[in-house]
Amino acid sequence: MELGQSGVVRKTNKLAIETIHLSKFFGKENQIRAVDNLNLQVRKGEVFGFVGPNGAGKTTTMKMLIGLLEPSEGSGKVAGFDIVREIINIREQTGVLPEPAGFYDNLTARQNLRFYAKLYNIGPEVREKRIVGLLETVDLTRAIDQKIGGFSTGMRKRFGLAQALINEPLVLFLDEPTSGIDPLGAQMMRDLIKDLNRSKGVTVFLSSHSMEEVQEICDRIAIIARGKLLAVGSVEDLRDIVRAKEGVHYLLEVEDIPLSEAAEAIKKVEGVQDLEIQDRTLHIHTKMKLRTEIAKAIKKAGGTVSMFEEEEMNLQKLFLKIIEGV
Ligand SMILES: Nc1ncnc2c1ncn2[C@@H]1O[C@H](COP(=O)(O)OP(=O)(O)OP(=O)(O)O)[C@@H](O)[C@H]1O
Ligand SMILES: [Mg+2]
Repeated sequence: MELGQSGVVRKTNKLAIETIHLSKFFGKENQIRAVDNLNLQVRKGEVFGFVGPNGAGKTTTMKMLIGLLEPSEGSGKVAGFDIVREIINIREQTGVLPEPAGFYDNLTARQNLRFYAKLYNIGPEVREKRIVGLLETVDLTRAIDQKIGGFSTGMRKRFGLAQALINEPLVLFLDEPTSGIDPLGAQMMRDLIKDLNRSKGVTVFLSSHSMEEVQEICDRIAIIARGKLLAVGSVEDLRDIVRAKEGVHYLLEVEDIPLSEAAEAIKKVEGVQDLEIQDRTLHIHTKMKLRTEIAKAIKKAGGTVSMFEEEEMNLQKLFLKIIEGV
């Protein structure tokens, strides 16, 4: 809630996507819990990554959010609209790149986009301009009058992005937008996604198996496995989650005193669990963040810190740690 200009309290919705206890069960006795009590909040203007092993429930979640599957339990909203009762409004406000994507292979890129534009009642003048513009954006100008059936995997994915953008959506759902594309094509797709987000403020909800990609373009990330949400946050938030579980690993180099003396001083710091000397570097494993405490101990012992780094886990490592044992 916030105060409007008139001073009257009005409802505000800063969330692009919200799910409350959202679940989808399959099988005769609902024994397959594809999505299990999912509570998610995606802010407007975010690039949000949705990651998890095969079968985690990513595609099923997206299908519920875009009105292709009805939830078994729980509810959700996209762009402020209910995912069961207001599917038509959601369709108007969203764009979807599904996996696998089905297009009319016998029609050209232009004809395909014309078809989708007509579904949104976009008038002929705007439509033709938009089609040319979008195909240029995804670098398919030369293929505009070629049949989709002859497109390579990369071209199909890029075409899929153009199709998802035909109605100028506020929220974009991208299910594995770069799977099967070569590194150059994947980078182009990532740049396009980032650009759309920055220049037009489009909220992006994307799934991917490339942790490098998600780390590069996503503001926040949700990790799911077996239908359950395990963690959510920025890469740094996820690091904190893993730090709380596994502690912190520092690398330290010291001058002016022998390494053995530095090691003795550090061992006395509360929370230091393990210490090893490798070449000229001290490897310190601690229960929690202890950078200041360790630096102080070295100074007190008469030493000078010449290098002090935390071994930073990338998303790939964090992901593996978080899904470990699930
Ligand atoms: N129509 C269906 N009928 C029965 N089970 C289904 C159906 N759709 C999905 N499932 C099951 O639900 C679970 C989640 O599948 P989903 O496709 O959502 O996973 P995913 O995270 O998208 O996986 P991937 O990374 O392989 O794309 C899987 O166990 C899958 O077999
Ligand atoms: Mg999937």
